[in-house]
Amino acid sequence: MFTQETADAQAKPEGRPGISIKHKEKDMKILVLNGSPTGENSITLQTVNYIGEFFPDCTFDVLHVGARIRLYENDFSEAKAALEAADLILFCYPVYTFLVPAQLHRFIELMKESGAEIAGKFAAQITTSLHFYDVTAHRFIEGNCADMGLRSLGVLSADMEDLLHEKGQKEALDFWRFVMWSADQEAAAGHAGSPAADPEPDAWVGKLVIVTDLAPEPDESLRAADEAAYEKALLDHAADMPLRGMIRAFRAEAPFKTKVVNLREFPFKGGCLGCFHCASDGTCIYQDGFDEFLRKKIQRADAIVYAYRVKDHSMGYRMKLFDDRQFCNGHRTVTMGRPVGYLVDGDLSAEPNLQMLMEARAQVGGNFLAGIASTGGAEALPAGQIERLARTLAYAVKYEYQPPKNFYGVGGLKIFRDLIWQMQGLMKEDHRFYKAHGFYDFPQKRAGRMLAMYLVGGMMGSKTLQKKIGGKMTEGMLLPYRKVLEKARRKG
Ligand SMILES: Cc1cc2nc3c(=O)[nH]c(=O)nc-3n(C[C@H](O)[C@H](O)[C@H](O)COP(=O)(O)O)c2cc1C
Repeated sequence: MFTQETADAQAKPEGRPGISIKHKEKDMKILVLNGSPTGENSITLQTVNYIGEFFPDCTFDVLHVGARIRLYENDFSEAKAALEAADLILFCYPVYTFLVPAQLHRFIELMKESGAEIAGKFAAQITTSLHFYDVTAHRFIEGNCADMGLRSLGVLSADMEDLLHEKGQKEALDFWRFVMWSADQEAAAGHAGSPAADPEPDAWVGKLVIVTDLAPEPDESLRAADEAAYEKALLDHAADMPLRGMIRAFRAEAPFKTKVVNLREFPFKGGCLGCFHCASDGTCIYQDGFDEFLRKKIQRADAIVYAYRVKDHSMGYRMKLFDDRQFCNGHRTVTMGRPVGYLVDGDLSAEPNLQMLMEARAQVGGNFLAGIASTGGAEALPAGQIERLARTLAYAVKYEYQPPKNFYGVGGLKIFRDLIWQMQGLMKEDHRFYKAHGFYDFPQKRAGRMLAMYLVGGMMGSKTLQKKIGGKMTEGMLLPYRKVLEKARRKG
């Protein structure tokens, strides 16, 4: 049976001291939909096999939907029964051309047509790829899960080689532990006072800063001086009331020492001028104290929540001003490893660009996006969402949860890596940071891999050898993964 203690002992070294994350003990039946056409030889499937070695109390049943799609097209009854028997449906697939392999795409059509009773079950995703548009594949699955009433718990977007390295192995186990924890949280939601309702409210996890832009209550004295300005200020203040309510509710839920930083109260001298004064030593040309304010009052927090009201399809002018002024940090991801969250008053379903922006910012910054609680444009506060966000942030801080980056993070940092390399003479602080953190992972450094590819390429150039090895390529590629699994088996 899965318990947090088991996972702690097996999958993860001690988390940060602080709250205890309680778990309800329960069995979990997982149905793995292996979407890779390579079936048993799928690299992605090896990650699931690896996880299985460390969580022996989770049952993983696999349907090779990618390799056997014709079979399911002829008869879906076995698949339907398996789907209905599962607690959690795990979509395990390689990213194929911006989406999932066509075979898995077809299986989803069949799933929907089958009328299988799966609404309310959990879903998760494990993918491998080169991170080239993995996000579009993930959104495709999430969208279809929502159509079928499945509750998505998360995505592990691994590089195809991740499992061969310690970091990738740890990320896989951390991810599964997070999925199990999230499932417990979801199951406990609605059962007030449930023992799974952690974290303990009186134990602080750390310090959290809420960065926001709230209109102040207008001063009565303004009324006499400028009636129109007073009326406008009153309207602005009233418009921010739902957001104030969200912040209040979040602070009541969060097991953090929270501090609200209202950007209206900071005396900004202006927006970033793009003067590059900060390039060599990180100090801004403006002398309004922003550098210190940012570094001492915000960046030292264990977690940051941004709270805003959707305005003009954006977070509003002041939040943008704040973002641009952070250029005093250049391209350095100074808060990486620390989670972020959002409280948003507005209908995000109508704002796909804002959603992408929030995810991409977190990805490039190396911050786990713990969640976005939004009013959806309605009057009522989303109580469940706020509670979930607070708990997920607490979990992420306690366990230093940091899943691998997706296309937004990997792609974005490759652009910065190349830029800073070329501009190292000017962007000295960035260059130092990138060197210190191993960001210069240029492909030409991997001479061994390039040589191996020349060898394989040479062999595949011969028609006779191509015939002999062609069909065995995927098996050959699996050899190093098999070694990792054998080692895991011995450990397990
Ligand atoms: C037809 C095809 C399309 C692919 N498209 C993408 C892609 O869009 N993005 C990406 O990052 N990787 C892409 N890949 C690479 C695979 O996602 C990657 O090799 C994956 O790890 C294979 O996993 P598997 O062994 O489980 O099938 C593609 C591979 C193939 C064969």
